[in-house]
Amino acid sequence: MRSLRLLALLAASGILIAACSDVGSLRSTKPLLSTVQDFELLLVGNLEADYIGDENCLKKCHTHDRISRDFKLSIHGDQISAETGLPLVNCESCHGPGSLAVANISPEQACNSKSLLPLHEFPAAAQALICLKCHSAASTPNLTNWNSSIHATNEVSCFSCHKLHAGPQQKLGRNEQYEACIECHSRVEMEFAQFSHHPVPEHKMACTDCHDPHNSSNSTNLRGIQIKAVCTKCHMEYQGPFVYEHADVTEDCSVCHSPHGSPNDNLLEVGEPFLCLQCHAGHNSSFMSAGALHDTSRKQAFYSRCTDCHSTVHGTDTPTVYGEGSFLAR
Ligand code: HEC
Ligand code: HEC
Ligand code: HEC
Ligand code: HEC
Ligand code: HEC
Ligand code: HEC
Ligand code: HEC
Ligand code: HEC
Ligand code: HEC
Repeated sequence: MRSLRLLALLAASGILIAACSDVGSLRSTKPLLSTVQDFELLLVGNLEADYIGDENCLKKCHTHDRISRDFKLSIHGDQISAETGLPLVNCESCHGPGSLAVANISPEQACNSKSLLPLHEFPAAAQALICLKCHSAASTPNLTNWNSSIHATNEVSCFSCHKLHAGPQQKLGRNEQYEACIECHSRVEMEFAQFSHHPVPEHKMACTDCHDPHNSSNSTNLRGIQIKAVCTKCHMEYQGPFVYEHADVTEDCSVCHSPHGSPNDNLLEVGEPFLCLQCHAGHNSSFMSAGALHDTSRKQAFYSRCTDCHSTVHGTDTPTVYGEGSFLAR
């Protein structure tokens, strides 16, 4: 059985290697079997076409007037090469040489785009390479490891997020992130639709406050070594260290909180008192020292909200009369 499978695998990879010479079959191979060189070959484009520059590309037809206007206003359109004084990025930097596309067309016609690079048909890794040939380590450090990122390995490419011709802006803005990201992350959308949530759908916060969309060495691309480091960037009052720590429980805020959203108050994973009862036994008034329950109205609240009394579960520097480190209000 095992040798049969091995044979089938060998045969399959033979076919793949034999078929690597044209675009169509490369697309159908698995990226694992293709090398970066294969993708680089794809990007060379039509060998019979020449680079002719934006002006020659665009003067013959006006179909792309809006795109070229936006492009001129964009950061890409702004880049001038220090050595030559010529534009560093032009239409052909991404679309490949254009002479054949505009040969023999009249102003009423659209260009012959079939002779340009079929960008949208490329495998994701080749699409990314178009951008990475310029966006190497120096300009955007976290793109260095793009190829090992969870997005790259799941065939998400740069232009799944960067809609370069939607307007002059080339970056995915903070106000657009929520909509762009949930297009693929529907579970995250459901989480943010819950009663208690971080105000990301309201655009007061963005996914990139907590995640790096390109890659990071932390789990789930977080912008902090541990979850606590991410949270205390904004919620500094809980950073500690405190004289009375809640053991090491608060080292991971997600023990008690859902980072995106939750049906419970305060983004709690589990509502009170069950949140606390996961780790503690409850107790009743006879357990408490005299005076702790002087306010009898508290008796009703007893098992609904432990934090009515233990209000400093995040840690505190202040001892209380009822016992040090019980996280009670003074
Ligand atoms: C930085 C890279 C880059 C540059 C520079 C660039 N484009 Fe594009 N262009 C793309 C990408 C990526 C797509 C989308 C590919 C896809 O998914 O089909 C695209 C798509 C297009 C399309 C298809 C229609 C559309 O709106 O999606 C046209 C037409 C186009 N570009 C024209 C131009 C022109 C004209 C210029 C120069 C003024 C230009 N492009 C410069 C990357 C670029
Ligand atoms: C020919 C070189 C070149 C290519 C190809 C290229 N870029 Fe750029 N890009 C630049 C330069 C230069 C800048 C400006 C300096 C910088 O921010 O690094 C820039 C800036 C950007 C910015 C920052 C915009 C901002 O507002 O800060 C984004 C986003 C971007 N490029 C995305 C892309 C994507 C996506 C692709 C592939 C479709 C791509 N680029 C292809 C050269 C290039
Ligand atoms: C999952 C969506 C996503 C993908 C895929 C993606 N980007 Fe980005 N990119 C973003 C977002 C969001 C920002 C804005 C980051 C911010 O504001 O902090 C950004 C910012 C940038 C910038 C501006 C510099 C910076 O870090 O702020 C560049 C350049 C860039 N991206 C290039 C690329 C290239 C090249 C690729 C593909 C190799 C790529 N991006 C893939 C979402 C993405
Ligand atoms: C307040 C910080 C924060 C914001 C804002 C945030 N996240 Fe997260 N996200 C986290 C943390 C923390 C985790 C890890 C949870 C864990 O490991 O227990 C996570 C996990 C994830 C995961 C993997 C697990 C899952 O739930 O599927 C995805 C995907 C994700 N986030 C996408 C997004 C997107 C998309 C946005 C914006 C719409 C976003 N996040 C906004 C903090 C945040
Ligand atoms: C074109 C689809 C697509 C878009 C757009 C997209 N993602 Fe993803 N993302 C994926 C896929 C596929 C995965 C890997 C499978 C998974 O874990 O859901 C992933 C994984 C992730 C993870 C890691 C989850 C883990 O378990 O480690 C995070 C975090 C994440 N995406 C955040 C974002 C953010 C933030 C944005 C917007 C800036 C975004 N994504 C846009 C498709 C997308
Ligand atoms: C970029 C800043 C930022 C980061 C990072 C951040 N938060 Fe928040 N957090 C906010 C804002 C803003 C609010 C909403 C405050 C409001 O609505 O008045 C909030 C609200 C909350 C609330 C109360 C929710 C409610 O229903 O009232 C909790 C709990 C919370 N955050 C926990 C966390 C945790 C846990 C993390 C880490 C995973 C985290 N936050 C990361 C900014 C942040
Ligand atoms: C042992 C469970 C637990 C852990 C761990 C925990 N919290 Fe909380 N958190 C709660 C409870 C319960 C509430 C609601 C009652 C209250 O406000 O005391 C709350 C409320 C909050 C609030 C909203 C109320 C306010 O003060 O604005 C924020 C913000 C918050 N927590 C942040 C964090 C951060 C950041 C961490 C990690 C450093 C963390 N929490 C860890 C249980 C926890
Ligand atoms: C993930 C488990 C966990 C959760 C959830 C948790 N705790 Fe704790 N808690 C501990 C640990 C561990 C200690 C320290 C060990 C000890 O002294 O029992 C502790 C200590 C305490 C103490 C001090 C005990 C003492 O002997 O001085 C109080 C009071 C307390 N927790 C209340 C709460 C409340 C209220 C909640 C809910 C908001 C909660 N805890 C949620 C694990 C947890
Ligand atoms: C009405 C106020 C009140 C409520 C509500 C309350 N507690 Fe307490 N709790 C106290 C007081 C007061 C003490 C200190 C008793 C003492 O030291 O004599 C205490 C002590 C504790 C201790 C420390 C026990 C020890 O060994 O020293 C834990 C753990 C605890 N409570 C957990 C909880 C949990 C879990 C809940 C919710 C199910 C809860 N408490 C609800 C008032 C309250």
